[in-house]
Amino acid sequence: MLQFDVVIIGAGAAGLMCAAQSGYRGRKVAIVDMGKKVGRKILISGGGRCNFTNENASPENYLCANPHFVKSSLSRYSQHDFIELVDRHGLNYHHKTLGQLFCDNSAQDIVDILMTECEWAGVEVFLRNEVLNVERDEQGLYIVTTSEHTFSCTSLVVASGGLTMPKLGATPIGYKIAEQFGLNLLPTTAALVPFTLHDHDKARFEGLSGISVDSLVTSDDGTQFRENILFTHRGLSGPAILQISSFWRAGQAVSINLLPDTNVAELLHDWRQNQGQKSVKNLLGQLLPKRFVDALINDNSVPDKPANQLTHGEIDTIAATLTAWQIKPNGTEGYRTAEVTLGGVDSDELSSKTFEAKKAKGLYFIGEVTEVTGWLGGYNFQYAWSSGWACGQVC
Ligand code: FDA
Repeated sequence: MLQFDVVIIGAGAAGLMCAAQSGYRGRKVAIVDMGKKVGRKILISGGGRCNFTNENASPENYLCANPHFVKSSLSRYSQHDFIELVDRHGLNYHHKTLGQLFCDNSAQDIVDILMTECEWAGVEVFLRNEVLNVERDEQGLYIVTTSEHTFSCTSLVVASGGLTMPKLGATPIGYKIAEQFGLNLLPTTAALVPFTLHDHDKARFEGLSGISVDSLVTSDDGTQFRENILFTHRGLSGPAILQISSFWRAGQAVSINLLPDTNVAELLHDWRQNQGQKSVKNLLGQLLPKRFVDALINDNSVPDKPANQLTHGEIDTIAATLTAWQIKPNGTEGYRTAEVTLGGVDSDELSSKTFEAKKAKGLYFIGEVTEVTGWLGGYNFQYAWSSGWACGQVC
């Protein structure tokens, strides 16, 4: 039996941050992971450059049943604290868009920073150790059985992530431990994930794969994101679609404004008046990708005629098509390609200051295994750093 003060399940973003902090407090810390490398999701994130935080991160950028929980979680270790950490390590990084910070070189730089911190803090890392079982003995110690060892500890931190990307070692172990100790779980589903389309829509948009359009996308509950949408051979993706997927529920439609900066009806009236000989197809082709306009014409969403032949009714219909285009996905690509898991350990079961389970002393849940889900744009890593740091001060 290997004896530690703290055992952390999961050498991802949250677990590594927590391990270093706890180690600095003089705790004997083990971090166990089933993978053969630490920080595997960090390494593939942001196209290999890791969007490690967002300069503008605030509680409004997160979904959580209890908004106060997120507020408290983020307040003790913010994006500014993480930026200060990477600056201290001399990381080269850049601002891309909407406050998103990326490594200049490689996501490996972030893993190296975290591993340096863990080394300085004396953390022991056990890779290729799949956690199979957790129990609590009569003295209140947690006994963790992995595929290789048995550990005992006074503090057990569950940082095992969500269900996304099973190929990268996602397992439901965190949820199982939560259930075992009587904690409530909120239903889980894939989020920040591309939509798949019904066959008839797939046929309509065949040939559009690779086209990207700056759009304003609105969900049923009125949530809006202004970023690109991207047609793929399976359906719809792109940042605006990934963002709205977290707010979409099966059976609902999303509304897409393809020309959010244009008063389309006014513009069509103007064309009718001043550029009447030109075809609607050619005129729209100045504003939207030509292949996309062709698809709208082919399925009769937009008439192919000179602008001066448009009726008032047709102008209204075209304006509605382009500014409130209704798409009803038939589903999402699921956990295979999703960036995060919505739902998880109910925040009401945890202290927002320490992440300790209210029902089990010494048991903590941090990072994606909890129900907190950030928007796309560095917010999810920020929550992993914030929750890992806060837990590391006490566990
Ligand atoms: P994480 O999933 O990172 O780590 C959990 C660890 O637990 C894993 O290493 C796993 O092997 C281990 N584990 C699970 N079960 C186990 C068991 N039974 N035994 C032992 N170990 C076990 N976010 C962001 O802010 N910016 C970005 O650029 C991106 N990009 C991105 C791209 C892609 C493709 C994905 C899939 C995700 C992102 N994300 C992101 C989301 C981000 O990666 C995610 O929110 C964090 O990695 C969550 O960190 P955690 O430490 O909570 O879990």
